[in-house]
Amino acid sequence: MFASSRYPVGSRKLKRFTPRFALFSSPVAPPPMPRALITGITGQDGSYLAEFLLEQGYEVHGMVRRASTESFERITHLAGRITLRQADLLDPLSIINMVSDVRPDEIYNLAAQSFVPTSWSQPLLTSEYTALGVTRVLEAIRLVDRSIRFYQASSSEMFGRVQEEPQTERTAFYPRSPYGVSKVYGHWITVNYRESYDLFAVSGILFNHESPRRGKEFVTRKVSYAVARIKHGLQDKLRLGNLDAQRDWGYAGDFVRAMWLMLKHNQPVDYVIATGKKHSVRDLVQLAFDRVGLDWQKYVEIDPQLLRPAEVNHLCGDASKARVELDWSPRVNFEQLVAMMVDADMSLVAREKAGADRMAQ
Ligand code: NAP
Ligand code: GDD
Repeated sequence: MFASSRYPVGSRKLKRFTPRFALFSSPVAPPPMPRALITGITGQDGSYLAEFLLEQGYEVHGMVRRASTESFERITHLAGRITLRQADLLDPLSIINMVSDVRPDEIYNLAAQSFVPTSWSQPLLTSEYTALGVTRVLEAIRLVDRSIRFYQASSSEMFGRVQEEPQTERTAFYPRSPYGVSKVYGHWITVNYRESYDLFAVSGILFNHESPRRGKEFVTRKVSYAVARIKHGLQDKLRLGNLDAQRDWGYAGDFVRAMWLMLKHNQPVDYVIATGKKHSVRDLVQLAFDRVGLDWQKYVEIDPQLLRPAEVNHLCGDASKARVELDWSPRVNFEQLVAMMVDADMSLVAREKAGADRMAQ
């Protein structure tokens, strides 16, 4: 079914990508632009993926939900180059209408309640977005056009209390949070729709990936932003939870490339995407403070309230399959990532400080 052509034989996709012969002047018209729809386009990954797909010549549409204040800061620089569509993961009809209007070749389902601690305080909402939301998007594909290729943002959080080291596509899941449990559901419903309806639906099991666009509640950005504020004299302490937790941290810009490679592949296959190196939160903190010449031990305090009811102590992925079959490997290492984030926050805080000083005058 999923032949080695770019899209399945006999599907609408093949027609979209086959050069058509023009009636008069030029012998071969350029193929139409491939069209992608990204749910979660306002998030960290959505913004990098939108940029990347534009560079690849895609027409990019993004799903945004209605809010009284817009949160478009990560995609403001793409204004005029992408089209935003209003829909919500909670509202099936809005998703069906959006898919029907856009008629994409590919859907990247990145939207989710993605912050692990919130999944304990809002477990039902987390399952609605992060678990059932996936089925709603898959159902829209099933009803509107089964040739649409689908990417699901699965997570290393599904490995939770890890069953083997490092984790691969064959490692059993043992989620440790309502978020992780919801992602396991999203993962298996994607596999199930692939097997039940012959959809080109794949699941990327991505390990933690970060960037200067990371939300400030996640530990890497919490640290880089606090380091910059401390260095600029705006803050004197940084409160953290478990310093011993270890993660396999990569760069978001590298990881969105893997999503695209999965949908370009000739078979719908699930892949682990990771750097293969793990570091502790303590390593992260030390490196970040070192970057600005400060001793972290003078500033970091442990706040027991930030410890999780059930912790994922360590994660480390083996992305050999993606390296061999997709020719994917990360380009930015952990040290470069931390330096990039601290430097970006040093510039950001300098601008914020200058703005505050101007306001005070
Ligand atoms: P993020 O920055 O938190 O972005 C989440 C996106 O989902 C935002 O655009 C958000 O929109 C949207 N969203 C949330 N609820 C929605 C709803 N009900 N309807 C429509 N949109 C909704 O997350 P990220 O770091 O980019 O991650 C992208 C995806 O990959 C997520 O599914 C995450 O769980 C998964 N993942 C991330 C990592 C990682 O390390 N970053 C690793 C593995 C898997 P608003 O702007 O309106 O809030
Ligand atoms: N957020 C946060 N804040 N985490 C802290 C803190 C703190 O003050 N102190 C220690 N940590 C530890 C957490 O206990 C966890 O072990 C680790 O730092 C990483 O936490 P996060 O950055 O919040 O990320 P995460 O690993 O829980 O989840 C992220 O990665 C998943 C992939 O494994 C999110 O992006 C998920 O959406 C993603 O699926």
